Amino acid sequence: MRRFGLLQYPEKESLSKKIFNQYFKLSSINAKYDDIVIEPRKFDTRVTEYLESYDGLNVTVPFKEDIIKFISPVEDAREINAVNCIYQNKGYNTDWKGFYNSLLDTDLKLPILLVGAGGASKAIIYGLYKLGIKHLILVNRTIEKAFKLKDFFKTKIDITVESFENLKDALKRSKTFINATSIGMFGESFNFSNEDLSNLHLIYDIVYNFTSLQEQALENNIKLIDGKTFWYYQAVENLKIWGIYDEVRFYDTFVNGNFS
Ligand code: ATR
Repeated sequence: MRRFGLLQYPEKESLSKKIFNQYFKLSSINAKYDDIVIEPRKFDTRVTEYLESYDGLNVTVPFKEDIIKFISPVEDAREINAVNCIYQNKGYNTDWKGFYNSLLDTDLKLPILLVGAGGASKAIIYGLYKLGIKHLILVNRTIEKAFKLKDFFKTKIDITVESFENLKDALKRSKTFINATSIGMFGESFNFSNEDLSNLHLIYDIVYNFTSLQEQALENNIKLIDGKTFWYYQAVENLKIWGIYDEVRFYDTFVNGNFS
């Protein structure tokens, strides 16, 4: 049996575990996907045992940077300085590629407003750069992290940082809104009015569950790309890297599966 898994901390039942295991069953792939929890202080001593015993791995919060010294990152993963997929000791970043692929058929309207400055935002900014976007507005609760990202990407894309207090103002001026924070995951809300969203053509919300922002997008007839779709596109890239991608069966699993 082939083994795949997700390195994470703290423990959280992943969408990957649910969907990949259903996909393996449907496709008669003799494999199993596990959620693997490692305490951060034990990461350096324990990670090699998983690198040796698993056929392919995903990596999530908080290990996407820490993993790099144990594997060989491919060029884009090195540029982003984050790895979320591993195969045969090579490290990939499928977050940016998934984000990029999810927008290939979309005419992105400018300006673009991105909220969040964590690991997901880093991959998203790189994806926007690869899509040919030259400028974006970035808001984050902790403004220093937004300035850090601005500096990190200074040779690639021009970033205007605005404060979290100015979020609604920036939103009213934007045509595309991307939420790369966890707001909505635990029932929190941005508390935008419909008026605040009236200029928008697209809302991209990376949160996996159905959030009030996503509900508002649908109510206001604003095109919505949700977190499950974001997950799907990066998952496709993982399966391709691991050599076990069947387009029809994976799509069927994703559309018909029960992931609540
Ligand atoms: P990920 O890899 O998913 O990006 P992360 O690196 O932990 O995860 O980043 C989480 C992001 O969500 C950060 O931008 C965080 O803002 P801070 O940098 O200020 O912490 C943002 N975030 C989480 N909860 C939030 C909240 N209640 N309000 C505003 N921003 C929030």
